[in-house]
Amino acid sequence: MDWNSSLIKNLEWSDKIINLAGKQKVADEIAAKVKDGDILGVGSGSTSYLALIAIANRIREEKLNVKAIPTSLEISMFCSKLGVPLTTLYENKPDWLFDGADEVDPNNSLIKGRGGAMFKEKLLIASSEVSYIIVDDSKMVPKLCTNFPIPVEVFPQALLYVERELRALGADSLALRPAKGKDGPVITENGNIILDCMFDEVGHSLERDIKSITGVIESGLFIGYNLHILMASNT
Ligand code: 5RP
Repeated sequence: MDWNSSLIKNLEWSDKIINLAGKQKVADEIAAKVKDGDILGVGSGSTSYLALIAIANRIREEKLNVKAIPTSLEISMFCSKLGVPLTTLYENKPDWLFDGADEVDPNNSLIKGRGGAMFKEKLLIASSEVSYIIVDDSKMVPKLCTNFPIPVEVFPQALLYVERELRALGADSLALRPAKGKDGPVITENGNIILDCMFDEVGHSLERDIKSITGVIESGLFIGYNLHILMASNT
């Protein structure tokens, strides 16, 4: 039976996608990697969305048996719209994953989480055999925290304790991420809040140090992961 609703069918990316041509090229490269039977971890954000469209086209045209494990509600709705079957981490381990990033430093360490989905993004990157991160020039930085803060997902009642501990680790500006379309802070898909933190220095142990604070669910800092960075350029 059909819901007779166009809400999912008519979903579109809500913002202008910058560097569309470059991202489209890498989206096609990602889609070309898909093999029949693959379980894919699907990242969040506009770059992942474009790659998902290219993959959905291959699934439809070549009748591939591929399943996706989405990193957010946003991308799971796009999977539904595009006819990409879903599965979960209870049933499957991803063969590989693709995602975007907000910053990449010369050691391939990342900041992610502009979309607030960093907990599940990290869980899926950790669970996947191979992870492809698609970025354009604007995301390459000499050091992390150049343009983007490190987002930290926090259990709401732990906010002030976590703030104190983050300052002790060297966070010099912290902001509670405000919601758009709702009064008050962003509430993550896990029912938590986000502190966006700027650090002058992002040392090698910072990801682990942040994670060890009681009340921190996860951060958007990725240091020392085995990632394949794919560059989307317009040329
Ligand atoms: C969402 C993310 C995104 O992958 C990151 O923000 C990149 O997004 P875009 O591809 O739209 O630039 O981490 O939590």
